[in-house]
Amino acid sequence: MKTIGVAIIGCGGITLQNHLPGLALCPEARVVALCDNDAAVLQRASEQSGIKACFSDYKEAIHRDDVHAVIIATPNVLHGPIALAAVAAGKHVLCEKPIAMNLAEAVEMYRAAEAARVRHMTAFTYRFVPAFRYLLHLVQAGAIGQPYHFRVQRFQDWGTRAVGWRQVKKLASTGELGDMLSHRIDYAHALMGHIKTLVADLHRFHDVREGQVSDLEDWVAIIARFAAGGTGVMESSKVCTGRGESARSQDYCEVNGSEASLVYCMGQKPELQIGRRGQSTLEPLPVPKEFLVWPGSPRDPSRGDPLFAFRYDQNFEFIDAILNQRPCVPSFLDGARAQAVIDVTVQSANEKRWVEVPVVT
Ligand SMILES: NC(=O)c1ccc[n+]([C@@H]2O[C@H](COP(=O)([O-])OP(=O)(O)OC[C@H]3O[C@@H](n4cnc5c(N)ncnc54)[C@H](O)[C@@H]3O)[C@@H](O)[C@H]2O)c1
Repeated sequence: MKTIGVAIIGCGGITLQNHLPGLALCPEARVVALCDNDAAVLQRASEQSGIKACFSDYKEAIHRDDVHAVIIATPNVLHGPIALAAVAAGKHVLCEKPIAMNLAEAVEMYRAAEAARVRHMTAFTYRFVPAFRYLLHLVQAGAIGQPYHFRVQRFQDWGTRAVGWRQVKKLASTGELGDMLSHRIDYAHALMGHIKTLVADLHRFHDVREGQVSDLEDWVAIIARFAAGGTGVMESSKVCTGRGESARSQDYCEVNGSEASLVYCMGQKPELQIGRRGQSTLEPLPVPKEFLVWPGSPRDPSRGDPLFAFRYDQNFEFIDAILNQRPCVPSFLDGARAQAVIDVTVQSANEKRWVEVPVVT
């Protein structure tokens, strides 16, 4: 069996929660190097994983001969430079979202990865939610008829708590928009296709979080028109008091079509809600067994917290795409398309007008 050696760059929250346990479920993957420029974070990850090859400089980790693939889980500002260095060294890359600081950088990453013929993947983790996968399947199979509306809400209560690099523009580029709404922009693309034009607004309620300056938005809203004819309304906020945090807070997605409406609301149960034409109430629609794990994933869907365990399928998808020399889903192209919407959202909010979204191919 071929073994894929992986280097993880950035060993903070998402590496501990997602990438290390996810890779541990992949028999063909072996984490061979860890990198973080914070010695305490690196030591914690090394102790938790038992991996001894630890580096503070990502270039050293990337260039090891036993590293075939790189996972980038640093603050956003480093995604582009690390991805380009990894691709130049011929390594496959799974990059956290948003993949770049702006569209030009995202497109450069995508083109470089394609030219180098390496696998490239954007960590739009919520694509791996079983209920979303079933929703996508039903929409693609025509179960809702002609899609009219797409609607998402991501509501969390962070109050005035500090959110580290996430509140600093030069490190993150955008706030709530890139952090939380980027996943739902990817949902919009998967379900409804290209967003032709949008109007948006951003707002920052807290200029200071726990004594640290914040120069990024806590709230974002987008009204979108899709090239295929449907409309979209997307809203995400860090200041929805009483809504809670993380995976347990409001994460809602609804599509309304000519024949039916489907609702996905992140929760413990793998189910959707369906409203059929002629009815006035929604009914539960359980997610069939074959959608509970990503095709081929060795994960046992009956184990672990369902709000978190689905995320491990993302690591399986990356490793499986490398082994089978096929494109990853979602790829850097999906990341660049979402980045186009992010850039246009900021432009629309600044200029207070509808703006066309460039097509990224
Ligand atoms: N896909 C998802 O669902 C999801 C969830 C959370 C975070 N993320 C993304 O993952 C990335 C990391 O987020 P996080 O929550 O883990 O942040 P974090 O702050 O917990 O971890 C980031 C780590 O990167 C390290 N780092 C900073 N500069 C570095 C450098 N030059 N070299 C090596 N390491 C460096 C930091 O020391 C820190 O430990 C972000 O892009 C974020 O948007 C994605």
